[in-house]
Amino acid sequence: MKVAIPKERRPGESRVAASPDTVKRFVGLGLEVVIETGAGTASAILDSDYAAVGAKIAPDEAATLADAEIVLKVRRPLLAGEEGVQEGEDELRLMKPGTCLAAILDPYDTRDIIPRYAEAGINAFAMELMPRITRAQVMDVLSSQSNLAGYKAVLDAAAEFGRTFPMMMTAAGTVPAARVMIMGAGVAGLQAIATARRLGAIVSATDVRPASKEEVQSLGATFVAVEDEEFQQAQTAGGYAKEMSDAYKKKQADLIAETIKKQDIVICTALIPGRPAPTLISEDMVKTMKQGSVIIDLAVERGGNCPLSQPGKVVEKHGVKIVGHLNVAGRLPAAASLLYAKNLFSFISPFVDKETGTLKINWDDEVITGTALTRDGKVVHPQFAEAPAEAST
Ligand code: NAI
Repeated sequence: MKVAIPKERRPGESRVAASPDTVKRFVGLGLEVVIETGAGTASAILDSDYAAVGAKIAPDEAATLADAEIVLKVRRPLLAGEEGVQEGEDELRLMKPGTCLAAILDPYDTRDIIPRYAEAGINAFAMELMPRITRAQVMDVLSSQSNLAGYKAVLDAAAEFGRTFPMMMTAAGTVPAARVMIMGAGVAGLQAIATARRLGAIVSATDVRPASKEEVQSLGATFVAVEDEEFQQAQTAGGYAKEMSDAYKKKQADLIAETIKKQDIVICTALIPGRPAPTLISEDMVKTMKQGSVIIDLAVERGGNCPLSQPGKVVEKHGVKIVGHLNVAGRLPAAASLLYAKNLFSFISPFVDKETGTLKINWDDEVITGTALTRDGKVVHPQFAEAPAEAST
């Protein structure tokens, strides 16, 4: 059985869906692994590194994908008809019917594309829909990538900031410690807290999920939130935040407005699955921030927590630098690829029959029902099969 790993083709994507470690493990299970030449280069993995652990290197994408039963990718395949994609660049057409494709398929923003996987006979698995159960932690791409994004966001902030994170007492005077506020204390936010603390900043954080309070405090940061009755109910069974009421949003905005004036750095990570990111920092709040402050908006790909942030750009508004880098985990490609590849291996390997070296998917397994968008020519995921449903868990 052949597993194919093509080179990523979406602009700015530097990650790859296999590492030498995962190739070695797949080969150990009796699978044939084919990697497109150069697929790992941007992640500092050479063809020779893959070949050394038993992968075959294919000269182009068509040869890589030909007859593959499993295709592992980082981002969803290019499709003819999408902006900037030529007819000959369609990646789905290179996959045979019955292929299992696992990738970050972005289903909420590409609902109209999901039927095309079904039409092509591809069994498509959206890795970002992985249920948040203990067994699936090792397969959780949102966690592995958000963790790196949270770390990198702090380094990006430090690079843009004209002062220091730690307090420095020198003969020439004292430089105060930076005040850093983290909006959204999920995976990215908690890593941002830890990183900012390691650099010596005074850190506070806000979230709407009550479970986050103890986590924030255990990392040495101050928790700032409107802790009313709605806050006590704000976490879904899936561990995510709910959309808050307008009344809560107003109270939260008043509290943030007061807090934000005193900050040097604000790192925004607040997200609600399947919805636009909540607006937490208005332009009026930005106006009250100190000159030279920095906002890093990790939520920019889903509309941003600050309406002034622009995707892929660093802008300066009212004396505040607002950073909207895209694919922030991809800015640490070597680390991001290693973790992502391990997520994919952990997802696929339980379904490989070690006796026969074939794929035997248990379609009733929670990790499969949670992630499978299409199966045997049909859209099967309950959130995407019919009319667009509300994202709830
Ligand atoms: P996320 O990326 O969807 O959101 C980031 C954070 O923004 C969340 O903590 C959310 O509560 C917060 N947020 C949403 N709306 C907000 C608002 N209006 N104001 C302030 N904050 C707001 O979430 P992420 O980071 O993927 O995970 C959330 C939680 O899920 C984690 O902290 C963890 O407890 C749990 N988790 C469980 C896993 C497992 O059991 N397998 C794996 C990973 C995470």
